[in-house]
Amino acid sequence: MDELIEAARDVQDRAHVPYSEYRVGAALETEDGEVFVGCNLENANFSNSLHAEEVAIAEAVKKGHREFARLAVSSDRRDGVTPCGMCRQTLTEFCDDDLVVLCDEGEGEVTEYTLGELLPNTITQETLE
Ligand code: THU
Ligand code: ZN
Repeated sequence: MDELIEAARDVQDRAHVPYSEYRVGAALETEDGEVFVGCNLENANFSNSLHAEEVAIAEAVKKGHREFARLAVSSDRRDGVTPCGMCRQTLTEFCDDDLVVLCDEGEGEVTEYTLGELLPNTITQETLE
């Protein structure tokens, strides 16, 4: 199995999901091969929940990383979950269109997208120049 998928699976154990019971893990690989992981952290008011991808990218950026190559996302249902619309936009702030997004379908199957496929023609820093 791709080590990035494995990292996205492992971190699901630390998800805080008393409401949905749906564990998500994300593993973001920098251009120089470091990996930062995140899991979803839900909240009793529902709307404050943090998504796995948001936690992973915050972890990487706060440690000074700004160049990313690949993201793996996995849920404990191994259902090929993709980053939601909000997470796609958050990723776009720091990642190029060619970021590889690996989605864990289970049984060794992975669906591969690029960020540009998942969120074409969106607003970026360049739009505001
Ligand atoms: N979730 C993520 O962590 N990432 C996504 O992009 C999709 C949704 C989480 C949020 C919530 O805790 C649970 O999955 C069900 O929506
Ligand atoms: Zn999301």
